[in-house]
Amino acid sequence: MCGIVGYIGKGNAQEIILDGLEKLEYRGYDSAGIAIINKSGLKTRKKVGRLSNLANDLKGDPINGDVGIGHTRWATHGAPSDVNSHPHTNMSGSIAVVHNGIIENYRSIKEELVGLGYSFKSETDTEVVAHLIDYYYSGDLLEAVFKAEDRLKGAYALAVIAKDNPDEIVAIRHESPLILGIGEGEYFVASDIPAILKYTNKMVYLENKDTIRLTRNGYKVYGPDRMEVKRDINTIMWDVEAASKEGFEHFMLKEIYQQPKAIDETLFRRLDDDGNIYLENIKITKEDLNNIDRIYIVGCGTAYHAGLIGRYLFQTFLKVNTITDIASEFRYNEHYIDERTLVVVVSQSGETLDTLTALKDAREKGARILSITNVVGSSVSRESNDVFYTWAGPEIAVASTKAYTTQLVAFYMLALHFGRLKGTLEDECYDEILEELKGLSQKVQLTLESVNESSKEVANKIKDNHSLFYLGRGLDYNTALEGALKLKEISYIHTEAFPAGELKHGTIALIEEGTPVIAIATQQGLYDKMVSNIKEVKARGAFVIGVTRHRNRDLEQVCDYTIFIEESFNIFMPLLSVIFPQLLSYHTSLIKGNDVDKPRNLAKSVTVE
Ligand code: F6R
Repeated sequence: MCGIVGYIGKGNAQEIILDGLEKLEYRGYDSAGIAIINKSGLKTRKKVGRLSNLANDLKGDPINGDVGIGHTRWATHGAPSDVNSHPHTNMSGSIAVVHNGIIENYRSIKEELVGLGYSFKSETDTEVVAHLIDYYYSGDLLEAVFKAEDRLKGAYALAVIAKDNPDEIVAIRHESPLILGIGEGEYFVASDIPAILKYTNKMVYLENKDTIRLTRNGYKVYGPDRMEVKRDINTIMWDVEAASKEGFEHFMLKEIYQQPKAIDETLFRRLDDDGNIYLENIKITKEDLNNIDRIYIVGCGTAYHAGLIGRYLFQTFLKVNTITDIASEFRYNEHYIDERTLVVVVSQSGETLDTLTALKDAREKGARILSITNVVGSSVSRESNDVFYTWAGPEIAVASTKAYTTQLVAFYMLALHFGRLKGTLEDECYDEILEELKGLSQKVQLTLESVNESSKEVANKIKDNHSLFYLGRGLDYNTALEGALKLKEISYIHTEAFPAGELKHGTIALIEEGTPVIAIATQQGLYDKMVSNIKEVKARGAFVIGVTRHRNRDLEQVCDYTIFIEESFNIFMPLLSVIFPQLLSYHTSLIKGNDVDKPRNLAKSVTVE
């Protein structure tokens, strides 16, 4: 939520910051702003709406300068407007601040500052930070930021510049992500890697409560005790292409089509010389597994849906009681967590605050934490005992696709590996299942090729509907949940997923003439029951789109439209059956003229509770 960029060097700050903000628009896009220091002082420009509004404004009247900060916003406190946009300044406009996160105690600080004669322009929590720094400022910006920070509660990544300190940027991170980029005679600060990857691949992942001071000649990092510390410099192996559309019309489409490659990257990098699974960052032993008597899987949205499939796999192969919970609810539910509990945390970004909070709660109670994340060095990975990195590459589109399928691969690999290690999965089964997994990316590729046209046709049929239902049983129900989320978030059609057998207990009342129902029917043992449920909704007027395996040709006689996908073991069908819902939501969103990659009200990385 919200993206920030800072630059100091010899380049054109406006250009570099705008370029960085464009890469961060996935974090929020309801307004944007920039502040730059030049010979005539500190200049700020902010505009409600997409970044292009700000860019157009600056085109007509650019701000020159080689030090500055910028922000793209996802509104929390105060509606999207010019005045609520960042950067926020002190009253004289000599100090500018950009912020990602929430200052929880801003009201009491605001009251105090108003009492001291400060006047506020915006409704945001961030503006207090600008005034607070002003209050403590007596020439030393770093000192003033330290003093202001002592007063703040909440989550924040902040970058600050001051007119009277034209050769420095001070930035600080607490719970919200922030990275430092090291170039040749130039330095960057940003919420995420793609923002500055064009300029440098040398990055420092800042730790919680780290503060940095960037000058034209170098940088210093101060740890939580305010003493100077050394942090590792990481060389990012992605190239700029990885964070660009590479000829696709949208990031989402590119990411859907990257899935076979992402699945292979995640899987084949972790096979030893004998072709068996080797997990490099996971130190869990047979003894540890024997000691684990309960597993919780937590995540939000799509990551939670991957966790539902993970639960099935762990229970099947590990024979351990497993519960999957929504991260934002996890801490409020009654759970039995102790040293014998394994908590598996799933997060593409590794920065989702609800997930991070659930992780910390569980760790405090003694649980061992294993995380599945796509971002090396993310907060989730740093707070975990063991990490499984999905090698999906950067996921930019707000709607998650390749992160989901690689999270599934992570669960398949973990369940197989742990099952064999523990002895609850026989070697023969392990070999057979792993062999099938090795060929799955090809089946995903074939499915992509075969369902693209039909997903366009179905998109045209459903585009004007106001509501739609997904049905499934067993693992297909989990795919239904993910399909419904995808369609909701980018097509804005109200879509609900139901276990097919549950419909008759109430929801079937909503089915009327022409209501579209997408029935996922890939689980062979449950197929006949699914067919009966499809007939029930058909009899009440539903327009049914069936998704099944090639062998179930008879489904054509029951459905209005049938999509056939590749065959595999039941447990692997979620990896194949999700492709049609992904493409369907993409094409529906496109036909409706929505912004596919940046749907309304959403942001990619949710760093507020
Ligand atoms: C949906 C989507 C979200 C995320 C959720 C968790 O397409 O992308 O539901 O899955 O916000 O994000 P991460 O995985 O970064 O924790």
